[in-house]
Amino acid sequence: MTMVDAGERMGQAGQAERSATVPDRGATSTLESDAGGRPVTDARPGAAPADTPPGPADTVLATRDVVISYSGAPAVRHVDIDVQRGDVTAIIGPSGCGKSTLLRCFNRMNDFIEGAGVTGQVLFEGIDIHASDIDPVELRRRIGMVFQRPNPFPKTIYDNVAWGPRMGGYSGDMDELVERSLVDAALWEEVKDKLKQPGHSLSGGQQQRLCIARALAMSPEVLLMDEPCSALDPIATGRIEELIESLRGRYSVVIVTHNMQQASRISDTTVFMYQGELIEVGPTARIFTNPEKQQTEDYVTGRFG
Ligand SMILES: Nc1ncnc2c1ncn2[C@@H]1O[C@H](COP(=O)(O)OP(=O)(O)OP(=O)(O)O)[C@@H](O)[C@H]1O
Ligand SMILES: [Mg+2]
Repeated sequence: MTMVDAGERMGQAGQAERSATVPDRGATSTLESDAGGRPVTDARPGAAPADTPPGPADTVLATRDVVISYSGAPAVRHVDIDVQRGDVTAIIGPSGCGKSTLLRCFNRMNDFIEGAGVTGQVLFEGIDIHASDIDPVELRRRIGMVFQRPNPFPKTIYDNVAWGPRMGGYSGDMDELVERSLVDAALWEEVKDKLKQPGHSLSGGQQQRLCIARALAMSPEVLLMDEPCSALDPIATGRIEELIESLRGRYSVVIVTHNMQQASRISDTTVFMYQGELIEVGPTARIFTNPEKQQTEDYVTGRFG
C-alpha cells in the first residue's frame, strides 16, 4: 500500500468514525453547529445547502500563501486561490505537481499524513481552518471527500449511506435521507430494490456513486474529489460527470483530474499546477483556449505531462 493509499483509507474511514463521535463543539463563527453536529444554517443532512444562488465574488474556500511540506520538503508552494461557491473547480497538472496535496489541505486531510505540515492560511467561508477552535471533524463533515478508488464500507448499500448520519445523531427520517442521498448521487434507480445488499456487490462506477451518496448524506457544502473517475470505464465516467453536473450550484465541487477533456467538460474554473506551484487559474474555457502562461499552454496542448 502506498502512503497515499494509506492516507485515503485512513482518511475516509476515519472521517466517518470521527464524525460519529465528536459532538457539537459549541463553535464560533460560521462553523457553528446545532446539537446534532449540523450547521445552524441547514439542519437537514443531505439537504442542498445553497439556497442563495452563487454570486461572482462568493468565495467558499481560499488559500493564502499556503506551503505544504512533507518532512520539511515543500510539495506545494505559496498558493493563493479562491474557490467560488457553487462552481465546479478542476485542478489539473502533471503527476507529482501537488494536486492531491493541495486538495487535501482544504479539509485538513493532510493532518493524517505523518510529516505533513502546512503554513499560510486555508480559509473556509473566511474562517482559518487551522484556528484552535476549529473542529476538524465538523470541518470534514462540511467539506466531504471522494477518493480515486471507490471505498465503500463493508456494509449494506443502505448502511453505507445511513452510517455517518446515524452516528452523528441524525433524528430525522433515515429512509428519506438515504433515498434522497442516493437520488442526488444518481444511483437510486439502480439500487432501490437491493438496499440490503453489500455495497461491495456493486460495480466500480456504482460504488463510486455510493461513496458520493455517503458524502452527500452528511450534508456537506463542498465536495472534494481526487480523480474520482480514474478507476472507471468511459460509461461509468460519463455517469459521474453527469452527476457532478447535477451537483453544480447546490454544492461547491473541487475535482482533481488527469483527464483534460473531463476538466474542460465539467468545470467552471480550472487551476493549473506545475512542480508544486499554482501557475494559472481562470475560467475553464479561457484556460483551454487562451491561457496566459506558456506552461499552461504547453500542458493543455499536450506538449508535456
Ligand atoms: N505522503 C507523502 N509523503 C511524502 N511525500 C509525499 C506524500 N504525498 C505526496 N508526496 C510528494 O508530494 C509531491 C506532490 O504529490 P501529490 O500526490 O500531491 O501529487 P499529484 O499532483 O496529486 O500527483 P498524481 O497526479 O500522481 O496523483 C510529490 O513529490 C510527492 O512525492
Ligand atoms: Mg494525486
